[in-house]
Formats: sequence, structure tokens, C-alpha cells
Amino acid sequence: MRNLLDLADRYLVGGCLGMFRLPDEVATVFHRGEGSRIFDVTGKEYIDYVLGSGPLILGHAHPAIVAAVREQVGLGSTFYGLNEPAVRLAQRVVEAVPCGGLLRFGASGTEGTFTALRLARAFTGREKVLKFEGGWHGAHDYAMQSAAPTHAADYPVPIPDTRGIPAATSQSVLVAPFNDPERAAHTIQTHAEELAAVIVEPLQRATRPEPGFLETLREATRAHDVLLIFDEIVTGFRIAWGGAQERYGVVADLAVYGKTISGGYPLAAVCGREDVMSWADPRRKATTSDYVFASGTMNGNPVGCAAGLVTLDELQKEGVYPRLYEISDRLRNGLEGIARDLDIPCQVIGDGPVLQPVFSRARIRNHVDGLQADAAAARRFGIEMIRRGIFVTPAGKLYLSVAHTAEDVDQTLEAAEESLKAVSRQR
Ligand SMILES: Cc1ncc(COP(=O)(O)O)c(C=O)c1O
Repeated sequence: MRNLLDLADRYLVGGCLGMFRLPDEVATVFHRGEGSRIFDVTGKEYIDYVLGSGPLILGHAHPAIVAAVREQVGLGSTFYGLNEPAVRLAQRVVEAVPCGGLLRFGASGTEGTFTALRLARAFTGREKVLKFEGGWHGAHDYAMQSAAPTHAADYPVPIPDTRGIPAATSQSVLVAPFNDPERAAHTIQTHAEELAAVIVEPLQRATRPEPGFLETLREATRAHDVLLIFDEIVTGFRIAWGGAQERYGVVADLAVYGKTISGGYPLAAVCGREDVMSWADPRRKATTSDYVFASGTMNGNPVGCAAGLVTLDELQKEGVYPRLYEISDRLRNGLEGIARDLDIPCQVIGDGPVLQPVFSRARIRNHVDGLQADAAAARRFGIEMIRRGIFVTPAGKLYLSVAHTAEDVDQTLEAAEESLKAVSRQR
């Protein structure tokens, strides 16, 4: 394994694949996954709560996905043109999601939110978008605005999260704190003439929307003909079959899906109102300038779509969501109980199979509240968990899959107790 880590350091920028670089003390190279478990190249086993950053809601190497993918790969891995898995997955997604309408596939969540925003700008003829501080919509220049800032913005002016973004792009993005309906409504009203869309993660990272917040966004956007875009890349088919729109009872104009619909392959989709989505119809290009380019080599890739179809088949089975919630609650309540017994200020935020331990007793309503929590303790806790064979994103969210069992959770709680004790010794 050392050799592979050295090679990674030698040839991969930062010795990693992106923003996720494990601390050296728990650095590892994975070999395989099965259900809720993953194994590194030394054979060390972990219970996995990262799940590929969310896509593996059925767990690793689910037999039905493996079979569907094998079959599709044998038939051909990509065509660029229409293929049956893509058509059938589009039907399943549109029929399931409350905003329905028409759908366009893409290859990543980043592409999905980028396309949704472009559609909104074209449809409304306005240029600006409002997003929320701490909201994550991927890597493009409109998304990397106050997505993970270390301090509050001077609202509504965002703080770019990375170098390399043109100032003009930043100027086209407005930012507001999550869960502050008055400020959001005021920002929408003040900028209505130039505002194309409001984009929101309805469950922002792991922070739940307070009653009335999403409803206010819906009313204010509708009142000013601004489009409401739900980024359901995490929540879609995860916190409910109909995603956040079903769970929180607010219907968006457009919604973006990724992770869960992909079955673990590169796949995402934008869907929603027909009058908006139809701007991406290539037939319009010849006849009107009212056209939006939204296309890519891997759009509707049949392997990903075949895996996505199997995922939805499994998720639609009787009792899946209640069980997912039950197992998640077991972990959430167990973690909070241990922290309480040890008198450690740790709460578990999130909804259903998305949860996050936060080292603070204060109410977490938005990103800035989260900044007051003890991030070093959260990170230490994560590292201690990985050392004990529980794979998590240090200081990040945990995802549960249908493959996680009560025994997995109980084993996790044993490791959590030891990890929390180690954190408290080091405070
Ligand atoms: C809510 C949300 N939106 C968008 C994205 C970007 O998706 P991708 O990493 O596939 O580009 C992510 C990824 O974590 C996400 O969680």
C-alpha cells in the first residue's frame, strides 16, 4: 500500500482525486466494496458511510446493479444516440418527481446545476441567480460562490470559493443565509428585475429547512416570475421517493438529480417545467434564437442509466424508506445518546439517511451557525472513526444505504464511543 500512496503522491495532484484527501494517519487505497463494507488493498475492512459521496444508496456492488451493468456493457457502453435504458430512466424520474415535465441527462451534478441555471437565464431573459451561503451545487463558477466560506458574506455579495473565477461571474450571483425567509424574500424582491433563478439545496448539506423557509422561496419566486431550482442531487430518491419536494411539500420549477439516480456511475439530470426545459430542444435551434445548448458526449449513458433503473426498482420496493429511516435513526439516536452520557456537546443534524455529527449545543440553522461549532473536534472524531474501521468524511456528512444493518450501526456506535472518548481526551 505504501508504494501506491507514494505513486499517488508522485503522479496525482495533491496525491488524491479531488477535494477529498484523507489525513496521512488514515490514508488508504481501496480495493473493493460489498454492501455496507469496503476493503482496502491490505484487506482492512471498513463500514462505509461515504458511499462514493452518496451515489451508492443500495450499497457497494449490489448484485442487481452488477448484473444490469454487465449486461449493458456487453451490449455496448455508449452510443451518443437514444438507448432504451436512458428512455426508461427518463420516464421513471419524470413520473416520480413532483415538478415532472421534461428531462435532460448530463454526466455530473456540476453539469446539471450549470444547465439548470443557464435554462433559467435564457427563459427569463435575466442574468442573476440567488444561492444560499453554504449551499453546494458543484464545481462551476456560479456554484463556487459562498459554498464553503470561512466567514459570513456581506449579503448579497458572495465570496468566491476558489481562485480563477471571473469577477463578472461573481457579480452575477447573489447570496443569502439559509433559513432566513425574510432576507431571502427581500433579496428576491429587490433584485426581481435582474433575477433569473433561486437555487437551493432544500436540505442544505445536513441542515434542515425550517418550516416556512422553502414555502417563502416558492411564494417570492412565483410572485416575481423567478424560477425556483431545487438541487436534489443529495435529496432526490433519498429522503423520500419524491425527494425533498415530496418530504417538505414544496414543488420547484426545475430540479437537478445526480448521485442516487446514477447507481454509482457518472450520471445526472435536470427536469421540470416543459415550457422551460423545451428551450433545450435542438429542433428549436434552426427556427428561433430561443434555444439553450445542453448536451454532452456521455449524456444518457446506457451503463449509468441501466444502473439507475435498477436503483429505482430497488428503492420502490415496499418498506424501503421506512427501513432506511429506522436504521438512520438508530445511528442518530445512538450517537447523540453516547455524546450525552459522556457530556460531550455533540448533536446529530440531518434528515433520514443523511446525517452529520456537529460539535456544538447551539441550534444550527445555517452555514454561519455551523462555523461556530468545533470543527477540529469533528475532524478528530472522523479520523478516530476511520482508524477504528468506520469510513466517514472527517467533519462531513454520513450517508446510510439500504445495505446497512442494525449490526453495522451497533458496531459503529461502539467505535463512536471510543472515538468520542479519544476526542474528549484531546480537547
Ligand atoms: C447538492 C449537490 N449538488 C451538486 C453537486 C455536484 O455534483 P458532482 O460532484 O457530480 O459534480 C453535489 C456533489 O456533492 C451535491 O452534493
